[in-house]
Amino acid sequence: MKTRICELLQIKYPIIQGGMAWVAEHHLASAVSNAGGLGIIAAGNAPVEVVRAEIRKAKELTKNPFGVNIMLLSPHAETIARLVVEEDVKVVTTGAGNPEKYIGMWKEAGIKIIPVVASVALAKRMEKYGADAVVAEGCEAGGHIGELTTMALIPQIVDAVNIPVIAAGGIGDGRGLAAVFALGAEAGQIGTRFVVSHESIVHDNYKKKIIESKDIDSAVTGRSTGHPVRSLRNNMTREYLKLEKAGTSFEELELLTLGSLKKAVVEGDTVNGSLMAGQIAGLVSKEQSCKEIIEEIIEEANTILKVRD
Ligand SMILES: Cc1cc2nc3c(=O)[nH]c(=O)nc-3n(C[C@H](O)[C@H](O)[C@H](O)COP(=O)(O)O)c2cc1C
Repeated sequence: MKTRICELLQIKYPIIQGGMAWVAEHHLASAVSNAGGLGIIAAGNAPVEVVRAEIRKAKELTKNPFGVNIMLLSPHAETIARLVVEEDVKVVTTGAGNPEKYIGMWKEAGIKIIPVVASVALAKRMEKYGADAVVAEGCEAGGHIGELTTMALIPQIVDAVNIPVIAAGGIGDGRGLAAVFALGAEAGQIGTRFVVSHESIVHDNYKKKIIESKDIDSAVTGRSTGHPVRSLRNNMTREYLKLEKAGTSFEELELLTLGSLKKAVVEGDTVNGSLMAGQIAGLVSKEQSCKEIIEEIIEEANTILKVRD
């Protein structure tokens, strides 16, 4: 399963661990990189010194490449964009916006640039501005999402750009990885399944909720505000959807979710916390190490793809 992504990122297996605010810190990222995938530290809304410490700790735990995910809506995006250059980070993925203004600086530093996109238009634009690859993320994914499904989005982006495409959203096992390869992707980015890994620092209550969840247990909040987010249904999503239906202002809705991901990840509040997870949560049935997850997925995908030859 060697693809252009393996070569570009100097990784053994075409599996990327998605940047996940609060979740994807140095333990998870280094475990994935040590297991042959690409681990990613998510900057989220964290200040620059917190992210710098995370990068340095990850470097102590792995000699393999890892990346940093920059949330472009963060008030610290600009300083973190410079931090990855200072700290000699090899790969940057970006979410929630358009990273155009940083691309020149990152290219000069030799950083591989991989924006997360949810449409053909943005993928083409990112290629034009010099991105090395794109993560094309379907709306099955956990966290902030676009409109299109992985199934519809991947082949259309693959046809529209020449740079390699990494598929995200709904990959839970080797069948999912083989499926996105069939659609033309050259790697899979996985979030939800890695939330339930031994190395993930997420509270046990949150992991348990993912393990117990069924296919229809996620909900999308924030469609009316233009910032849709997928998470597991609970009191918070019910309240949010009720207020959204009643036409509550964006500011008031924001107050409801302020700090809610931290509440779920750190405190294990499954009632009022934001249990971000994708539709594939229903398939995640146990907690495993990142190494076990990656090797299981690769072996299964290999078997399927060999059968198809
Ligand atoms: C808890 C959680 C937090 C996330 N936070 C971010 C983030 O900060 N930045 C980002 O680009 N994507 C974020 N995502 C999306 C993931 O990086 C990844 O693309 C997605 O989880 C893949 O779909 P899957 O959940 O079906 O595996 C998040 C996903 C989850 C589950």
